[in-house]
Amino acid sequence: MCGIIGIVGKQPVTERLMDSLKRLEYRGYDSAGVATIVDGKIERRRAQGKIRALEDRLLNQPLSGTIGIGHTRWATHGAPSERNAHPHTCGRVTLVHNGIIENFAELKGELTAQGHSFESDTDTEVIAHLIDRQLSLGDSPVTALKNTLDQITGAFALAVLIAGEDNMIMGARRGSPLVVGYGVGEMFIGSDALAVGPFTNRIAYLDEGDFVVIDHDRAQIFDASGSAVDRPIKIVSAAAALVEKGNYRHFMEKEIHEQPESCQRTLGAYTDALTSRTLPTPGLDFASVDRIQIVACGTASYAAQIARYLFERLAGLPTDVEIASEFRYRDPALLTTTLAVAVSQSGETADTLAALRWCKAAGLRTAALVNSHESTMAREADFLWPTHAGPEIGVASTKAFTAQITALTALAVTAAVQRGRIDASQEAKLVKILLEAPRLIAASLKTEEAVRALAIDTAKARDVLYLGRGPMYPLALEGALKLKEISYIHAEGYAAGELKHGPIALVDEATPVIIIAPHDSFFEKTASNMSEVIARGGRVILFTDEEGGAHAPAGVRVVIAPSSDPLITPLVMSAPIQMLAYYVAVQKGADVDQPRNLAKSVTVE
Ligand code: G6P
Repeated sequence: MCGIIGIVGKQPVTERLMDSLKRLEYRGYDSAGVATIVDGKIERRRAQGKIRALEDRLLNQPLSGTIGIGHTRWATHGAPSERNAHPHTCGRVTLVHNGIIENFAELKGELTAQGHSFESDTDTEVIAHLIDRQLSLGDSPVTALKNTLDQITGAFALAVLIAGEDNMIMGARRGSPLVVGYGVGEMFIGSDALAVGPFTNRIAYLDEGDFVVIDHDRAQIFDASGSAVDRPIKIVSAAAALVEKGNYRHFMEKEIHEQPESCQRTLGAYTDALTSRTLPTPGLDFASVDRIQIVACGTASYAAQIARYLFERLAGLPTDVEIASEFRYRDPALLTTTLAVAVSQSGETADTLAALRWCKAAGLRTAALVNSHESTMAREADFLWPTHAGPEIGVASTKAFTAQITALTALAVTAAVQRGRIDASQEAKLVKILLEAPRLIAASLKTEEAVRALAIDTAKARDVLYLGRGPMYPLALEGALKLKEISYIHAEGYAAGELKHGPIALVDEATPVIIIAPHDSFFEKTASNMSEVIARGGRVILFTDEEGGAHAPAGVRVVIAPSSDPLITPLVMSAPIQMLAYYVAVQKGADVDQPRNLAKSVTVE
């Protein structure tokens, strides 16, 4: 969850550490800190809250030094205070950490009994004490790190400075990502390509269990057993390196508007526009798959739920979707003819990764549908299904969500072909429909003004209900999640048919009921639900298409999105739903891109 950067530089590093932390702030923003080595001694500056607070601190107390580490925190152990902010120090050791040390309480007890005293409530500080203890036993820094790694359990990434070693940063990864960046006479480590992006495009991704020592010119990488290993250096795209808001007020707004292109790019990986065919996954024939088990968290799980309708309806392929944190702990009974699919923007979400590994260990074939193509899930799954949303910075997922739906829809068509449910001409028809999605998403973004107007009243609500049927039901869940996440208004998504089984009790004039209902085979039934709400004095806001607008019961406020084939309606309806959450949050003056308590990438349980 937290963000890490380390630079062994030729020039002063503080400004670049800060620049990197700003790009990593999406990973957490409870506190931030930097440390450098000045004249053989480690100096650090830390501040509670966002990077801005640390910037202010540095204005008053600047930090020189050509080697340093930085951290932006999402609190797990210990309140989000300055005292608990990273870097943490013990003796010669100063370090930053992402993840959780599971046996820290036990280790802390042992160290305390040996006379160590602690400055913070974090699990992290224990690692600094352990490395320092190893150093005082006579270990070299690398051996001290290795011996410490052997003592700690949990999922983590680290960057470590040692006082007196001003040409060296050590790093380690187990469960949380860490990359090495290769510059010219300068070297970097960071949580992801974004962290080191503006400094170099030559990056090596550490493997699970690796640890590393970087100096000015090179990286020595070791695997978990301590053997020297090589990890390939890749050239990453400039897009990953430079992510700016452009003319938009927020990243979320920009990312909502990028959806036509991100859908288009993703379609390019799964369809051939010239032949109107889908592109099969090499080595995977859906005819050999009896069932699909999708595991995911948050927004990704709603994209998966939408896809379930398609895999079952188009390809006759039984599909289950389960929240990864539940799946991983219930000892699911699985058959090896099931294909396990992890859906994840980051490819690092701890629960989804654990569920994927569980399936792999159970002998299932696995696929990772991820936006981060070098992520752990991408590298561990048998099949990589990339989405091409590009870097998503807003904590509330938008373009990654629609890119997931896009890829899964195309895959459902491939599955239908391979399982003999549709022929080439039907496939061509579906691909042509899919290829219309970017244009129709662009057209649905034109609802912006209408949505913005609705947001003014919606922002006054204390509770909001979202209803939908069929694939619009998971979209209703996603709409409610978006609103909760960024505007802090309590919102619930329900299957419209469930209205009478409970939520109708909440209906009153103060509770907007948002219904997502294009004019499809479910429309009549959902229209009855609208009338039921209106009859009880409720306020209905209907997101629909032109035909649906013409048939809306009186008294309903309507947002008209373009009409589309049901295959792509979830894609077309997403943008207005996302924009409503966005404008309500803006109306309420909320911190849209960095909502309280949340983080973009949840690499702890
Ligand atoms: C966090 C993010 C959500 C995201 C979820 C799953 O909760 O705030 O936007 O949907 O994690 O993340 P993933 O990277 O696995 O898609």
